[in-house]
Amino acid sequence: MIFTVAIDGPAAAGKGTISRAVAARFGFRHLDTGLLYRVVGVKGGDPAEAARSLAPGDLLRDDLRTLEAGQAASRVAALPEVRKALVDFQRRFARAEGGAVLDGRDIGTVICPEAEVKLYVTASPEVRAHRRWLEVGGDEARVLAEVKERDARDMGRADAPLKAAADAVVIDTSAMGIDEAVGTACAVVERKLVKGAQAGRT
Ligand code: CDP
Repeated sequence: MIFTVAIDGPAAAGKGTISRAVAARFGFRHLDTGLLYRVVGVKGGDPAEAARSLAPGDLLRDDLRTLEAGQAASRVAALPEVRKALVDFQRRFARAEGGAVLDGRDIGTVICPEAEVKLYVTASPEVRAHRRWLEVGGDEARVLAEVKERDARDMGRADAPLKAAADAVVIDTSAMGIDEAVGTACAVVERKLVKGAQAGRT
């Protein structure tokens, strides 16, 4: 079965947690596409070359989760050459046999417009900054400023800007706990899988 769940949204909205839970629940593989851009951002040198030479082992680096890596990622992610070099890998992952969950910024709009399920996970900047601050610590006001700066860059870029696909289900997690957010996402996927199975029988 080929079945893609595309999960897009701004920084620290809960995409990662939801994606991992959906993948585990349905036995799908999961790709956090933000890691690809984070690797390119922290590698240094020519970003396009770093994107073309990306190896699976790079995703295991332990310096990818910092605020600085997030900022570096969002800067290189605005470069068309970088995005282009990463498209094929993501498309193959999305349409491989067995079901896949990909989370990022442009999965439902650019990488896999044919995805069976598209979710746009969001929350207010303050709530997202608070969650990120709980992970990384430091000065919460600075974390909020970083989140807003990255949102503006990701939404404002010309190539593959962050936005909800027209046919995405929007999940605002501002007032939701993890269980409710995961439950909402799983229910959308479940409905689509059931519909697909019914269509297959008729
Ligand atoms: O975890 P968080 O939501 O903070 O960020 P991430 O998903 O790891 O993404 C880091 C940066 O990579 C984002 O701010 C985007 O600029 C870029 N990115 C992108 O352009 N396209 C994607 N599909 C995924 C990430």
